[in-house]
Amino acid sequence: MKLNVLILPGDGIGAEVTREAVKVLQRVAEKFHHQLTLTEGLLGGIAIHKTGTPLPQETIDRALAADATLMGAVGLPEFDQAPPEKRPEKGLLGIRKVLGVYANLRPVRSYKALLDSSPLKNALVDGTDMIIVRELTGGIYYGTPRGIYENGAETRAVNTMAYTRSEIERVARMAFHLARNRRKKVTSVDKSNVIETSQLWRRVVIEVAAEFPDVALDHLLVDNCAMQLILNPRRFDVLVTENMFGDILSDEGAVLAGSIGMLPSASIGDRKPSGAWVGLYEPVHGSAPDIAGQNKANPFGAIGSVAAMLEYSFGLKEEAAAVNRAVEAVLNSGRVTADLKPSGPPASTSEVGDAVVSAI
Ligand code: IPM
Ligand code: MG
Repeated sequence: MKLNVLILPGDGIGAEVTREAVKVLQRVAEKFHHQLTLTEGLLGGIAIHKTGTPLPQETIDRALAADATLMGAVGLPEFDQAPPEKRPEKGLLGIRKVLGVYANLRPVRSYKALLDSSPLKNALVDGTDMIIVRELTGGIYYGTPRGIYENGAETRAVNTMAYTRSEIERVARMAFHLARNRRKKVTSVDKSNVIETSQLWRRVVIEVAAEFPDVALDHLLVDNCAMQLILNPRRFDVLVTENMFGDILSDEGAVLAGSIGMLPSASIGDRKPSGAWVGLYEPVHGSAPDIAGQNKANPFGAIGSVAAMLEYSFGLKEEAAAVNRAVEAVLNSGRVTADLKPSGPPASTSEVGDAVVSAI
């Protein structure tokens, strides 16, 4: 198969973790005889430095031409004071929108080898296996009006959380389809006791549920959900929620997995004529400027994102499983990065990548 992949390393540890993920992709292509074509592009702070904008047109063109895009991370501390429009993050939000990847799949599972890496009791996290489906191209991240307005003596900031029925329907359908191939349970998370977008969210999710009589649906308010994730994580199978709630809850999910460095994600849009999903694949973690350039970031989130790409964009289930098995083997070997609190000396980013490559 021809695999035409765009790599957007981005900022901070993004370049380090994508380097390892690319090695893994190359190994898979070699072993399973696929023809891999890689191109690289600029996104985020590095793109601002080189072109003056966080999402250059050339990156957009390359992403639209590629079969799938692998991204590292964006964000640099030097832009902390910049307005949202001029920040590296704007590039990430822009490419999500351009590709139309409205469903962000963030699997959260516990690994036996990492139970001690989580600050939570082993018995509580053991057996956790859920997918957070985060709506990715709507809600308060994109709503208008937005801005900071000087108004005489007072300053006022405004953001808008807006959802349409069709935006909710398509992401809800994605969640129910996923649940069908899992434990057949969807938990929809909202704040319908206070906000209207959540009331519409809940109403539409209930309507969509009628198309999936074999899948059970329940609802949680987001504040309660934050608590249930820690109290009883095994109760979750597929969790579907709007953009900002999903952003917040998935970082909480990272505690269950042992480290945010473990979490991969797949952002999926509609199917292409070929039947493949348009996809943007990125680890859940950020650019971690504090450890950038030190070869100590955990590359498993990026490597897991490669597995997700193989599965969703290319339908290569066997290849995806080979990557996930290799990750598990390396985890069991105990040669992992410092964030996973290994009993021996921590492995470097590139050592972990090399170990995964040789386990495939
Ligand atoms: C994430 C990140 C991004 C988001 C930031 C970097 C814009 O936190 O992917 O979870 O909020 O979506
Ligand atoms: Mg986040």
